[in-house]
Amino acid sequence: MSRRLKQAAVVFVVVFAAAQLVRPERANPATDVSRTIQAQAGTSTLLAAVLDRSCRDCHSNNTVWPWYTQVAPLSWLMARGVVEGRKAVNFSEWAGYPPATQRTLLSASCDDASSGKMPGPYALVRPETKLSLQDIETICAAARQADADVADGRRHR
Ligand code: HEC
Repeated sequence: MSRRLKQAAVVFVVVFAAAQLVRPERANPATDVSRTIQAQAGTSTLLAAVLDRSCRDCHSNNTVWPWYTQVAPLSWLMARGVVEGRKAVNFSEWAGYPPATQRTLLSASCDDASSGKMPGPYALVRPETKLSLQDIETICAAARQADADVADGRRHR
């Protein structure tokens, strides 16, 4: 190995080791099960299963943190994704959203799942989160049902 290459290797190892000292928050807040979308009346077991498998890690309080999410710089990316993801929509805190917001979030979920934006590149790291056409249809059917329920409620009022 050339002297320069050796130096570069040493610098890399030192920087990589130092990076491990910056440990992001990886907390999973406590969940009141009765407030989750899974517990909401009208949520099909199919939808609950899809959200649980493909969206849970970033959009719930039950994030699974495999060992490689403890290694910088992946740990930083993952922690940031979880913070931003929970802020955008948290299926564990579903009861906290007004009905109109729930409908908007379901419809956005349908759009994002259809376009492949969600779960996005994460499906390369965790292939089991990849959505099938059937999974996407499950999410979109739930969005349509939520809208239909509103239209129905208006008609009968
Ligand atoms: C790897 C983390 C990750 C996974 C897995 C993931 N998301 Fe997201 N999601 C995010 C982040 C980060 C944001 C906020 C930034 C943005 O909009 O891109 C977000 C935003 C959203 C939004 C709101 C933004 C919008 O487009 O209106 C919806 C709805 C959403 N995700 C749905 C889903 C659904 C449904 C799944 C499962 C099929 C899923 N996400 C899986 C990280 C993730």
